[in-house]
Amino acid sequence: MLELQNINFTIQKGSEDVHLLEQINLKMPTGHFMAIVGPSGCGKSTLLKLIAGINQESEGDIFWNGRNLSEEGDLEHSEIGYVPQFSIAYDELSVEESIESSIRLRAKTRGRNNFHDLVDRILESTGLDAIRDRPVRVLSGGQKRRLSLAMELVTDPVLLLCDEVTSGLDPKSEQEIVKLMHDLSRNEHRIVVNVTHSLANLDLYDSVLVLHEGKVVYHGQPRALEHYFSVEEAEDVYPQLVKRPSGDWAKSWMKHREDFYAAFAKPQAMDPESSVSAETPGPISQFFALFFRRWKILLRDPGQLFLQLAILIGFPVLVILFDLDGVEQVKRLSETLPSTLQQMEQEKEAMTHNLNLGGLVSGLVMFQIVLLTLMGSNNSAREIAGERLIFEKEKLGGVRPSVYLMSKIAFLSILVFIQSFWMAAFVQAVCKLPMETFAQHLTLLLLVNGAMTAICLGISALAGTADQASLLSIYLVGFQLPLSGAVLALPGWAGWITRPFISAYWSWAGSMDSLQRDYLRYVDEVTDTWLAPFVACLAVLMAHMLIGLFLAYIGVKKPRWRE
Ligand SMILES: Nc1ncnc2c1ncn2[C@@H]1O[C@H](COP(=O)(O)OP(=O)(O)OP(=O)(O)O)[C@@H](O)[C@H]1O
Ligand SMILES: [Mg+2]
Repeated sequence: MLELQNINFTIQKGSEDVHLLEQINLKMPTGHFMAIVGPSGCGKSTLLKLIAGINQESEGDIFWNGRNLSEEGDLEHSEIGYVPQFSIAYDELSVEESIESSIRLRAKTRGRNNFHDLVDRILESTGLDAIRDRPVRVLSGGQKRRLSLAMELVTDPVLLLCDEVTSGLDPKSEQEIVKLMHDLSRNEHRIVVNVTHSLANLDLYDSVLVLHEGKVVYHGQPRALEHYFSVEEAEDVYPQLVKRPSGDWAKSWMKHREDFYAAFAKPQAMDPESSVSAETPGPISQFFALFFRRWKILLRDPGQLFLQLAILIGFPVLVILFDLDGVEQVKRLSETLPSTLQQMEQEKEAMTHNLNLGGLVSGLVMFQIVLLTLMGSNNSAREIAGERLIFEKEKLGGVRPSVYLMSKIAFLSILVFIQSFWMAAFVQAVCKLPMETFAQHLTLLLLVNGAMTAICLGISALAGTADQASLLSIYLVGFQLPLSGAVLALPGWAGWITRPFISAYWSWAGSMDSLQRDYLRYVDEVTDTWLAPFVACLAVLMAHMLIGLFLAYIGVKKPRWRE
């Protein structure tokens, strides 16, 4: 039995209280299929999210089989299936892979056979067996809704909550999906609730709840609906509702409520222990499921893959283009001391030449760094923001935010490592930068890419949308070069203010520190910017990386439903 008692849901808008749901009282037995209907904006989704635990009621209690959920703890993740209006599957995966992924993240199974049996059972029960190999991208609207339902069934939930899963479908598909939900509710442990503003197919439901301006104005058998509202057809209920204030409707309903409940609330032997929902898998299983799925999605996305490869190969080539003239010069560096006038002349020439070289080496390193920061932002700006709703949904299903973040860190670390190593090694092989310690330079390139990737991941986790995250990350990269001080020195005080935030500066300064000493002198002459010692650069870049990851952690923990 699911029971809502005196539920109010109020939000603050400025200084005013807005009552989105008022005095909601309702109950339904298990094995029940209920529709929540009502005009747009009446609070249907809000009520569903409240039952799902996404929204927290301001007042009142929700009981499940006599257990007060707000006092004795919510239902387990696996006990609730919540099907939102948006698609919760990745386009790159197939129908079967989507269900498999859902099982790996949400339902512990014993052995491979059990796992495959469960997949087969779900595919059959939702009528998806014939299209199990089809990619999600090409599915029709109705098939996508079916898949969303299927992905929620992996835990065998006791409460299946569906938001507008039939909206936008043609009448035939709509009827099929309602029929499917009806069949799923014919299970003594389960309640299925469907939010819809369609008043078709109501006879398939055990009860219909009509909401009007946040209040319950009817909850009873579908066939009594027309009679109660004194209309010919269910479709006429909405026009009828606007004829009286919602408070009046709610009051009338209070009077009739008990009689209506007596008609459909069949007495049941409740056994709260008989819940059969699956157990949520441990963090390590979830980690690997997320990590391998991420690789699969990358490898199946030709656009993304092409971009990653083009950047990986193209950027280092871009760096050496600037050095085509300089490569020879680097090798001809004069080291002889002057003794005659002629030699003095030669030395002056050599000095100018050396200063040029200093500028060239510094510029090349800076260019490497800026391109790596660009790669970093490309790696992670959309990583979380781009799949936020799916992640929110998976979080509700029991995916741990910290495990999700770990899977992102593992995935991105591999990209960062490949990109930075290749950039450092390729440029070094061609340009032979006069590094005293190449390892030091390589470490700083790794760290600057890592820092930017981590910070953009933080932005991605906190941003409202993927576009917002991309834009912010691009700005961040755009400021790296001008504020690094490698090209033009900033006035002293401005440098000290901006420097702590500019990863590129620390990577560059540290790399200059790893140059052969003569070059360091020339670089010092040409740039006029304070060069921090290597250890300081290492520490600051690590700090940037940790701050980025911390922000990402805060961001993934924070609930962010935006539909
Ligand atoms: N977090 C929120 N902050 C402010 N307003 C909100 C919030 N959540 C919902 N609302 C408002 O509450 C009202 C009910 O929203 P809800 O999404 O529940 O409507 P609905 O009945 O599902 O409508 P539809 O049929 O269009 O989906 C709307 O006016 C909506 O703008
Ligand atoms: Mg809604």
